[in-house]
Amino acid sequence: MSESAAVLVARGATAPLAGALKPPGDKSVSHRALIFSTLAEGQSRIHGLLGSKDVEATANACRQLGAELREEGEAVVVEGLGAAGLSAPDGPLDMGNSGTAMRLLAGVLAAQPFDSVLIGDASLQSRPMRRIARPLAQMGAQIATTENGCAPLRITGGQALQGIHYQSPVASAQIKSCVLLAGLYASGETTVTEPSLSRDHTERMLQAYGVEMPGPTTVRGGSRLRATELRVPADISSAAFFAVGAALVPGSEVLLSGVGINPSRDGLVHALRLMGANVELADRRDWGAEPVADLVVRHGGVLKAIDLPTEWVPSMIDELPIMMVAMALAEGTSTIRGAAELRHKESDRIAVMEMGLRTLGFEVEGLDDGMIIHGRPSAIGAGGAPASVDGAGDHRCAMSFAILAQALGRELRISGASHIDTSYPGFVSDLVGLGGAVFAQGETSNA
Ligand code: S3P
Repeated sequence: MSESAAVLVARGATAPLAGALKPPGDKSVSHRALIFSTLAEGQSRIHGLLGSKDVEATANACRQLGAELREEGEAVVVEGLGAAGLSAPDGPLDMGNSGTAMRLLAGVLAAQPFDSVLIGDASLQSRPMRRIARPLAQMGAQIATTENGCAPLRITGGQALQGIHYQSPVASAQIKSCVLLAGLYASGETTVTEPSLSRDHTERMLQAYGVEMPGPTTVRGGSRLRATELRVPADISSAAFFAVGAALVPGSEVLLSGVGINPSRDGLVHALRLMGANVELADRRDWGAEPVADLVVRHGGVLKAIDLPTEWVPSMIDELPIMMVAMALAEGTSTIRGAAELRHKESDRIAVMEMGLRTLGFEVEGLDDGMIIHGRPSAIGAGGAPASVDGAGDHRCAMSFAILAQALGRELRISGASHIDTSYPGFVSDLVGLGGAVFAQGETSNA
């Protein structure tokens, strides 16, 4: 059985997490690299692309739109079509579980001369899409959602788009990127402003593809993308699980190499340090437009509770489930506020983490926009009877519970874990490689 089994069984770690690994490529950067390479003129070469279900959905869509993608050694080569060179897909574009793929591609497709339909799995088809349909309609696009504002998205092509200044009500890189991509095809300039900075990979990467930006979040209609060669950093959102694991399990030391430390993504590093964790960023360097470093995390004693500064939330939005695990094992009461967006991710992550932590006896209180967590450091290594928690089909919640099991030294049966391969297909073997004990049910235990 593959690692994508619906049930993961995490045995409590008896040993520290120790060793070195390069986590898989950054998911956000990988989606963009494929889309931008498709829109570019010429041949692009991408190194370190994430090979996961979500990114496969984007790759398949690019192919359906006419791009040629092939593997050459460890690189993926894309023969770009140019922004005006896309052809009508032969059927609906299936974005699987990926909100990023759907929202970014909707921006591109809204500006094409042909019609298109974007579909997804049950989770994706319950996520809010008016947040992109509205600004696209303001630009002149014709895009229909279901009655409750979800996918399938039906886009009627052949509309002339006008540039807008869109003031997004939420800090969302998916909204920002969607509108900027449509803006490449609109008349005049398109600018997006947001309440606080969301991840800025789109802005950095547009420039790497030769697009001149008149302002930090402004594009000019008619801009052309030039093919390029780029290297995808390891995903800090995947590295986060082992970083927190090492900060929690006594005696641990892990080295996570080539991890993206873009300041719009590095909130977890700041939060762990504020909790007293020993996190070193070694050998900082730039991989093209993105800064990377080797993350060295050494266990340095029990973590302290924190009130997570709300301004850090956008820069660690995907790391909040694993942050909740860190907080559950910290000394004192922690709070997370300003994270209402968590309720609109692959699952309602506040509800799923609250339920799992409560099931395991932690005292937590879910809030509309976050959580209050009364930490219980005495649970570290204390074992306990085997228990079951539900990852609810959300990759990041399932992986967070697997790390929690390692720290507790308690066997957890994690259902709803099948979507781990949307972002991290090698999670189980990487965790085992660091000394963790976990297996997809049906496989031989490594414990
Ligand atoms: C992403 C943006 C974030 C994040 C998601 C990936 C992206 O969502 O949660 O996993 O690649 O643009 P927001 O659009 O809500 O910022």
